[in-house]
Amino acid sequence: MIHARIAGTGSYLPQKILTNFDLEKMVDTSDLWIRERTGIEQRHIAADGETTVDMAERAARAALDMAGCRPQEVDFIAFGTTTPDMVFPNCGVLLQARLGCRGAPAFSLETACSGFMYALSIADKFVRTGEAKRALVIGAETLSRIVDWNDRSTAVLFGDGAGAVLLEPADSPGIISTHLHADGTYRNLLYCGGGMDLSQTRRTIAMSGNEVFRVAVGTLGRAIEETLRANGVERSDLNWLVPHQANLRIIQATARRLDLPMERVITTVQEHGNTSAASVPLALDTAVRAGRIKRGELLLLEAFGGGFTWASGLVRY
Ligand code: COA
Repeated sequence: MIHARIAGTGSYLPQKILTNFDLEKMVDTSDLWIRERTGIEQRHIAADGETTVDMAERAARAALDMAGCRPQEVDFIAFGTTTPDMVFPNCGVLLQARLGCRGAPAFSLETACSGFMYALSIADKFVRTGEAKRALVIGAETLSRIVDWNDRSTAVLFGDGAGAVLLEPADSPGIISTHLHADGTYRNLLYCGGGMDLSQTRRTIAMSGNEVFRVAVGTLGRAIEETLRANGVERSDLNWLVPHQANLRIIQATARRLDLPMERVITTVQEHGNTSAASVPLALDTAVRAGRIKRGELLLLEAFGGGFTWASGLVRY
């Protein structure tokens, strides 16, 4: 029986940093308000002309380096993003051309903040059926281009960045299980127009923060329970929670539900802000490279975003 394991991780953050103090000069907000409500202290912002695929390429090459895999050997690309470079070709294809893995199937999917988790779930299934051997899974976003920088209720939350993992076949499960969900009846609580429905005039992120917060906490709580139950795993078996990085208070609520002390929760939201599909792989790579997450450890991953879409997964790193 073939399983998929994470052979390498990588990430990239643009050079420019926007601090809460910088935002104080742009909108009616304060460092204290942002830190108390969200935990965020700063976020990275893509340079003029720097695109989602530019950032994804840096993250992908870092993951490939760690795995000792040549770019031409990649035979599957699943790319989660809500901020694609173009309508088409999709970001997966644009990345494929840069890596030189011609012929490999490549696609992107737009499930907002759950984009990486959805991509991971699909790539895992291709590796497990033997249809892919070197599957690159990406989450990358230039959210700064769809943020209304005059809207203080959303401008303080988001950032840009990219994360990647390379999956390879293994004898024992690395990706143990993934669980995907969506509920489109919540579409009006968090959305961004700009698609082909021209009646949608708002082309920047719109959010009912309070309600999103409430649904996110409840839904993520149930998602992690589902993952533990599906695998017969106890809370105490987990080494790390690698959550979606939207808001420190949401993360703390999830950690409490797991009885996990915050020392066993990877948090990067303070430095990265909410990078949507990039947030889980960015957090994962940051923790791996810092020597915190080690080989053989048991991780619970989760994400929640616009749609709503949400996902969780159990991973033996
Ligand atoms: N700076 C200062 N004040 C702000 C502000 C800002 N950046 N943004 C909003 N406010 C004000 C509001 O206008 C409101 O003022 P009022 O009481 O005079 O009307 C007050 O702060 C409280 O606003 P509220 O929206 O109730 O705050 P909150 O405690 O819910 O925190 C969020 C707002 C956005 C931080 C919080 O709701 C949140 O994190 N929601 C989830 C967001 C999320 O995770 N989204 C992505 C999911 S993937």
